[in-house]
Amino acid sequence: MSRADIFRTLGDPTRLRIFALVAREELAVGEVQDIVGLGQSTVSGHLAQLRAAGLVTARRDGAHTRYTAARPEGQDALYQLLASEPLPEGDALALRRVLAERTAPTPEGLGSDYLPGRSWEALARMLLSLLPPLRIADLGVGTGHLTSLLAAGARHVIAIDRDESALSRLPASIERRVGTLEDLPLGEREVDLVLISQALHCVNDPVATLRRCRDALAGGGQIAVLDLAPHTHAWVRHRLGHQHLGFADLAGLLRDAGFHDVRQEIVHVDRRAPAFTTILATGRK
Ligand SMILES: C[S@@+](CC[C@H](N)C(=O)[O-])C[C@H]1O[C@@H](n2cnc3c(N)ncnc32)[C@H](O)[C@@H]1O
Repeated sequence: MSRADIFRTLGDPTRLRIFALVAREELAVGEVQDIVGLGQSTVSGHLAQLRAAGLVTARRDGAHTRYTAARPEGQDALYQLLASEPLPEGDALALRRVLAERTAPTPEGLGSDYLPGRSWEALARMLLSLLPPLRIADLGVGTGHLTSLLAAGARHVIAIDRDESALSRLPASIERRVGTLEDLPLGEREVDLVLISQALHCVNDPVATLRRCRDALAGGGQIAVLDLAPHTHAWVRHRLGHQHLGFADLAGLLRDAGFHDVRQEIVHVDRRAPAFTTILATGRK
């Protein structure tokens, strides 16, 4: 590369500015962008021209490519002169900030699978947004978390629980009915979808409850039951009122209640003690 080519390449004030930066520190494209305040394609374009002129080299470092100034062959004196080009005050400050950010501690305890912005609630909302506008009955609402999520896209949500205080926490758009899973306060064919999440184990005769659910569904309506796989934690009887220590064959219970297209699968295995396994069973009227 001749001196004339080098001067031509650095004749552009932005390229000279970027060269002066990478002559001081090895920087990733994002860092250069952050300092000079230009878009990614502009900065990448300038770096590509500096590379073509032999004024910059690139090094792959994990997900990043880092750039640093290089001495074009036989141009040591010129390189020294160019590399000592003073940085504009704003660039010098921004460079210091970018370098400090590199070593800034990341928040503790995030875990290796942490992803900024990901949450189960956000994922659930995305999937629920795909549901057609159904009439949904949610049996046994607990904290009301699931029930409240459903309210966003459903045509109508009926929440049923024997505990009035659980119902009182729900948003006003949800219809609340105090009642039991044994004597379900739902009319014939009143809903399109029945959900029972972690509540069926509280009833003595689950098949009788599932039959009542079937009656409450319109033709073609669906039921989805989340419950526990068989376990040996007898403390859930007196602490949480469970009558069954999980279910070995939720699908069989749904078939006994008259549902068809029945499916059952394990949807969660909790790795933390007491390590319950969660089963999802679905069926259609
Ligand atoms: C573990 S919570 C369910 C939580 C909620 N469905 C969820 O998945 O986040 C169980 C709920 O069922 C209610 N429940 C238990 N047995 C019931 C019964 N026989 N009839 C009506 N509600 C019952 C309790 O009051 C409680 O609100």
